[in-house]
Amino acid sequence: MSIDVHTEGGIATIAFARPDKKNAITAAMYAAMADGLAAAAADPAVRAVLITGSAECFTAGNDLQDFLANPPSGDDSPVWRFLRGLSGFAKPVVAAPCGVAVGVGTTLLLHCDLVYAGDNARFSVPFAALGLCPEAASSLLMPAIAGWQRAAEKLLLGESFGAEEAREMGIVNRVLPAAEAIGFARAQAAKLAALPPASLRETKRLMKGAMADAIPARMAEEGVVFGRMLRAPEAREAFTAFFEKRRPDFSRFD
Ligand code: COA
Repeated sequence: MSIDVHTEGGIATIAFARPDKKNAITAAMYAAMADGLAAAAADPAVRAVLITGSAECFTAGNDLQDFLANPPSGDDSPVWRFLRGLSGFAKPVVAAPCGVAVGVGTTLLLHCDLVYAGDNARFSVPFAALGLCPEAASSLLMPAIAGWQRAAEKLLLGESFGAEEAREMGIVNRVLPAAEAIGFARAQAAKLAALPPASLRETKRLMKGAMADAIPARMAEEGVVFGRMLRAPEAREAFTAFFEKRRPDFSRFD
């Protein structure tokens, strides 16, 4: 399995572990993450969740081959199940992205409460460049967190940006040396695990306020468009170009 899930000291860790493919996420991996979150939600011994990769790589986002072969269909698809589970997760979630954090590797952070990035982190949301549209309610959350122009620059151009810029944007709490980020995030999660769980849950619920309804609504809206665009020729050209190691050519599309 390319996702490690384990619980220790009140912290459920969900870790990407597919280094040969830069931790690209398949449907089976999304299912494991969704199941890991559901189990963490149900287990009173779990007080906080930690999402990590390695000190070298968070995730290259959706596995493009798997995505083309098994496009998500319907609300119960593993990817939507994972994103809904994460966005509605009542307990605190801490993340420690290091290295590449592409696509959902960046957008999942918008649903985490505390994010500690390695100084080697490279974030990107290249949905438009892949012939797709934003997912994980990033079309709502990124402008809300980072401001319109900054979010538009990232979501329209899809260019990567570093840990310090992500911190300025408000996506990241703190930037640490890559070798220390995961340990620091774990220590922060341990602090949360020692606090009264009901207080943390109520604080998080109150902070979310009206966003608690707006986020799933936007995610559902994005999901319909994303599913359509995934089957369109623009995405096919972008995905094929990636595997053929060439630049995509969108000149024939209107
Ligand atoms: N889906 C499927 N396979 C992927 C992948 C992805 N998203 N990202 C990387 N891989 C694979 C590569 O095909 C390569 O496989 P190979 O060794 O069999 O050829 C391997 O992982 C290593 O990737 P590589 O591109 O050689 O690493 P890099 O360090 O040069 O670049 C990235 C890393 C993440 C910048 C680059 O792989 C990339 O741009 N990936 C696509 C990201 C993306 O578009 N994600 C989808 C977002 S919705």
